[in-house]
Amino acid sequence: MIVLGIETSCDETAAAIVNDKREVLSNVVLSQMDEHVVFGGVVPEIAARAHLEHIDKVILAALKDANLTFSDLDGVAATCGPGLIGGVMVGMMAAKAIAASHNIPFLGINHLEGHALTARLTDNVAFPYLMLLVSGGHTQILVAEKLGKYKRWGTTLDDAAGECFDKSAKLMGLPYPGGPQVEKTAYQCKNPENAVTRFPLPTPMKGRKNCDFSFSGLKTAVRNHVEKLPAGDLRQNDIIELSHAFQDKMADVLADRCGHAITRFKKEYGTKTNTPTLVVCGGVSANKTICGALGQLAEKHGMQLCAPPLSLSGDNGAMIAWAGLERLKEGQNDPLDFQARPRWPLDPNGPPRHGAGVKA
Ligand code: KG4
Ligand code: ZN
Repeated sequence: MIVLGIETSCDETAAAIVNDKREVLSNVVLSQMDEHVVFGGVVPEIAARAHLEHIDKVILAALKDANLTFSDLDGVAATCGPGLIGGVMVGMMAAKAIAASHNIPFLGINHLEGHALTARLTDNVAFPYLMLLVSGGHTQILVAEKLGKYKRWGTTLDDAAGECFDKSAKLMGLPYPGGPQVEKTAYQCKNPENAVTRFPLPTPMKGRKNCDFSFSGLKTAVRNHVEKLPAGDLRQNDIIELSHAFQDKMADVLADRCGHAITRFKKEYGTKTNTPTLVVCGGVSANKTICGALGQLAEKHGMQLCAPPLSLSGDNGAMIAWAGLERLKEGQNDPLDFQARPRWPLDPNGPPRHGAGVKA
């Protein structure tokens, strides 16, 4: 079984092909970073137009890299939400057109489910597993019970972790996208102990008995530190030390929240799995310090950590193709009048949280 996956929900125009042997036959990701960097963030209208301009050639490149043609495909999957709706529509319509003209099934995929199932593509992780989903738009702890069934245990009450990385980076004068820039800058720190003493930061929600997150206080603390530094351009060493302190704190917060989730997971699901696994996914899972902290935490609790390789941590078509393939294998597909969904929670029954708004 061979499936093409298309991803256009943010600023990557991506297409990839996977098969049921869990092989990624091609994975083409065209970043629009250059078009958004001057604005310091993703501009939805520019993103949608750029997807439209590039989608055809990205899909053809994915077929060419895999040495396949449209007639080899058993299905075509596309992100149908959540995300920037203009871009989502471009990828979704391209997939529907391919499905209609080649008479193959169409699958409308939840972008978050794409991230969630990547661990099954790369490591064949069995259900149920515990999952930390950390991206630019979401920060959630969920249990993946089976395909299409997720229980949300925690969510951010304000910013997402990736958003906090991006906004803090901007405050420090680092270019967009901030996450990878903060990581790169933090690793230049020669005196980590000095950095965390010089730039104390809060640990929002630490010790609370639930699995929720809050990042706006952390971002404000970064702003306060920046404002206390001498006026004008920040000195390079200040940015390096503040980046280190910030990243260190992020890892601490995420590990603390996951610690609570692990305790609960072992209690409620301990007998339902032989290989208890913590999966980390979404763009922020590219961060080595965060994965290191989560790896130590998992080990302490006798669990294994599964983190995606760099090529699959950020937005990509392979995760969408794989989610489509898993659904196709179960006999599922979607009609061609399937609607794009700007909001599409993985757990529609997840309890509402005060202040969490649409991110819940
Ligand atoms: O999953 P993703 O590619 O897009 C969304 O669905 O949001 O995640 C993008 C987010 C951005 O906020 C980006 O700064 C963050 O992931 N990110 C990182 C790293 N690489 C990407 N954050 C921290 N460290 C990284 N190495
Ligand atoms: Zn994503």
